[in-house]
Amino acid sequence: MNKTKVGIINVTGYAGVELARLLHQHPQVELTSVTGRSAAGQKLGKVFPHLAGIDLTIETELDEVDLVFSAMPHQESAKEVITLLDRGIKVVDISADFRLKDATEYQNWYSFTHPAPQLLKQAVYGLTELYRSQVASARLVANPGCYPTGAILALAPVVKEGLIEPDIIIDSKSGVSGAGRTLSLRTHFSEVNEDVTAYALDGHRHLPEIVQELKLLRPEQPLSVTFVPHLIPMTRGILTTCYAPLASGKVAAGKKAAEELRQLYLDFYKDEPFVKVVESPPHTKHTWGNNLCLIHPTIDPRTGRLIVISCLDNLVKGAAGQAVQNMNLMLGLPETTGLEALAIYP
Ligand SMILES: NC(=O)c1ccc[n+]([C@@H]2O[C@H](COP(=O)([O-])OP(=O)(O)OC[C@H]3O[C@@H](n4cnc5c(N)ncnc54)[C@H](OP(=O)(O)O)[C@@H]3O)[C@@H](O)[C@H]2O)c1
Repeated sequence: MNKTKVGIINVTGYAGVELARLLHQHPQVELTSVTGRSAAGQKLGKVFPHLAGIDLTIETELDEVDLVFSAMPHQESAKEVITLLDRGIKVVDISADFRLKDATEYQNWYSFTHPAPQLLKQAVYGLTELYRSQVASARLVANPGCYPTGAILALAPVVKEGLIEPDIIIDSKSGVSGAGRTLSLRTHFSEVNEDVTAYALDGHRHLPEIVQELKLLRPEQPLSVTFVPHLIPMTRGILTTCYAPLASGKVAAGKKAAEELRQLYLDFYKDEPFVKVVESPPHTKHTWGNNLCLIHPTIDPRTGRLIVISCLDNLVKGAAGQAVQNMNLMLGLPETTGLEALAIYP
């Protein structure tokens, strides 16, 4: 049987190499073409020895393929995506360039004028758990950001059901690979090791994405969201803790409340292969290298406040794994194909 040919634009970043790893073990597609700027002309396995089993050369241009993943930085990605769509090629864009529906937000948050605002309507936000049928028929999927994936999945059930007051705090901690492979002082070993810090307190670029998607779940409810990301000394993983006051009278009182809440999450995600509602606070290590988002909802018995903790691997469910999940749907394959790997431990 002929396998679907897929390519990666910008295989030399962390999202790109993780895609190559996952696509290599995918039984229904063949990775036939990869591009990269700095390493063009070199064998993929020479630049990234852990990918030595893939016999490909990093090129400047893609060969003919049926579907492409763009793992370019924002603004650069949009240019590539527009050309690919004109050639009739399906695209999963891992950058932020097609995630926001309002083109003016790109000026506000990313400091560029969007080159194709008409495509923002067409692009499907690739959070499969919320947009499964739209992803299946999309020609352009905007793969969600790593922080938004954990935050939206953690909050979707209670926002949709109107169970919380619209005053939400999202506190996230990310490993350093979330900042990409490009060198910067901020991510040097001696700066990050033995250190934890908050950043982007005046507004992180993932905030408008989180707000956009939560609002779409319950348009009639105004939302006030504070999102504070933190950088912590580990390679992969995002742990997100969300807090919000419960809306009065919507959830049973006392011990029953936490049970009711847990049941709501179990029902909401009952058919989801990559979202697991867990009984105790999850560890990022439980998702290392796999496509799961683990969620633990509970209620602080002293204040009655909702607490929901989620965790995922930023390079898998937060990037490359979710992109493969979207590709599977776009190609009519079972959603879990090539993504069944368990987490690596310890
Ligand atoms: N890291 C994550 O956890 C994560 C999660 C979700 C989404 N994303 C998104 O995925 C995309 C890639 O992120 P990443 O973390 O993989 O980044 P990265 O590791 O920093 O890779 C960026 C790569 O982009 C290339 N590059 C930089 N500027 C370029 C330009 N102007 N034109 C062409 N290529 C350029 C560089 O490759 P060369 O040196 O070979 O030119 C660099 O290796 C971004 O849009 C990011 O927002 C990342």
